[in-house]
Amino acid sequence: MTKLKVLEVPHAILRQTAEPVEAVDQEIKQLLSDMLETMYATNGVGLAGNQVGVLKRVVVIDCQDEHENPDPIKLVNPQIIARSSECVCHNEGCLSVPREYADVERSAAVTVRYQDENGQVCERSATGLLAIAIQHELDHLDGKLFIDYLSPFKRQRLLKHLEKRRKKEARIAEDQERDLNE
Ligand code: NI
Repeated sequence: MTKLKVLEVPHAILRQTAEPVEAVDQEIKQLLSDMLETMYATNGVGLAGNQVGVLKRVVVIDCQDEHENPDPIKLVNPQIIARSSECVCHNEGCLSVPREYADVERSAAVTVRYQDENGQVCERSATGLLAIAIQHELDHLDGKLFIDYLSPFKRQRLLKHLEKRRKKEARIAEDQERDLNE
């Protein structure tokens, strides 16, 4: 297995639409297992193809706390076929928008149709965190991020905060390198 590099904003691939998977073959199986390993290694609850630079409609999710009893779900060509009119608000984050969080309103329950890693067509109904994760990850496949649900003001503020923190971290890393070289 290979740990993949997770792309972060403002990478252009995060804004592109992923293509349907034509055949669930060995390559897709390997990709799903690499994505899962990457997700666990970065403490995420979900990861979509775009986020690892692969424009294919593949998603992995595991909403188990602490990942002590892993319950991985691998979705190929997922589509939401039903959603509740009832909404819930949840404080979301994303590996591609590191360590920034914001409240987003989404459907409380969804039913997703997808192919599993063997190409079987499956349906699954979800509520709670899983329903939110499914909607968040499927958005990625259409080039959409959770920050798109915020007002322009809130979105700009969040992205500025992220940029400021990145600069600060880069400065600290530079200082440490200089100290090591002295
Ligand atoms: Ni995300």
